[in-house]
Amino acid sequence: MPVISAPHAFNEGDLFVDLASICGYPLYLKCEAFNFAGSIKLKAANEMVESAERDGILTADSVLVESSSGNLGVALSMIAASKGYRFLCVTDSRCNLSTRLLMEALGSEVHIVADQDSNGGFLGTRIEYVRNLCASDDRYVWLSQYTNAGNWLAHYRTTAPEITRRFPDLDVLFVGAGTTGTLMGCARYFREYHRPVRIVAVDAVGSVAFGGEPGRRMIPGLGMSMRPPLLDESFVDEVIRVEETDTIRMCHRLARHGFLFGGSTGTVVSGATDWLSRHGTRNITAVAIAPDLGERYLDTIYQTNWLQDLYGDQVLDTEESVRPKPLPREAKPASSRAPVRRRSP
Ligand SMILES: Cc1ncc(COP(=O)(O)O)c(C=O)c1O
Repeated sequence: MPVISAPHAFNEGDLFVDLASICGYPLYLKCEAFNFAGSIKLKAANEMVESAERDGILTADSVLVESSSGNLGVALSMIAASKGYRFLCVTDSRCNLSTRLLMEALGSEVHIVADQDSNGGFLGTRIEYVRNLCASDDRYVWLSQYTNAGNWLAHYRTTAPEITRRFPDLDVLFVGAGTTGTLMGCARYFREYHRPVRIVAVDAVGSVAFGGEPGRRMIPGLGMSMRPPLLDESFVDEVIRVEETDTIRMCHRLARHGFLFGGSTGTVVSGATDWLSRHGTRNITAVAIAPDLGERYLDTIYQTNWLQDLYGDQVLDTEESVRPKPLPREAKPASSRAPVRRRSP
């Protein structure tokens, strides 16, 4: 084990969970939560802060400000505390309580916006608030995860190479899409890889990231209420959308096997399982990325009252959530959830 003196100096990049016995399909889950920020966002935060320091944008009297649904806010809080910067996180009412408390415990200020934007999300309102702040005082430095190339470069430099080190024969990669930093970094890397890898983006129903109708989304992390500026769809082979009820069921199925993951992981694994059920899985090497763990969702996804209030009494009342599917011998029949876009690899 390494010896470190700064919290952002440690990040476990080589842990994968074999989900075959839980999901019934050959699927490896890359776990991104084993660092002091507890999520994949540590990578983007590190890259963006270091590049702003190199460029002289971030100085000792700067105040970092960022719009985040939570995890980037925690990662930046940790880095800011370690490096001695002030940090203000602009988030919204969907941010988990524990995530907000974490940021405050690390010494950050948290501002919560309450007004929805025209797409029914909060992103537009959050960004407007940050813009006004930056216009009011030039000590504010906005790294802007939505447009900052460091967001995808972090994954091009770390996440994708970590996957290929363990799975050089990778066939298909499932990546959840928020800002699309993870997606674009991995997709760009694999476009240059020595063999074709199918890149499948997983989005939440109600997100407008890849087009489609805006709708209610209560689980933070995945999905956007605007088109992600970092997204270049020419690098994406397929997009699948997952209902929040399926996210919740998959989270609970994993938890019943002792793996307490966050909402995005439930979404990505649900989408990946569905995709694998519709394709031949013989000799296929498939990896999905798990952005965080479940502790931050104890008062939401893992809380019965919250679930029943939002999704009805029956949300977990299904065999799906408690029993693994049998391992398939080969291809499975098509399911009702169709991909929204497909391109040959
Ligand atoms: C829990 C969770 N899921 C998904 C994502 C989406 O990742 P990205 O912004 O790289 O698309 C994030 C990033 O904030 C996250 O924290």
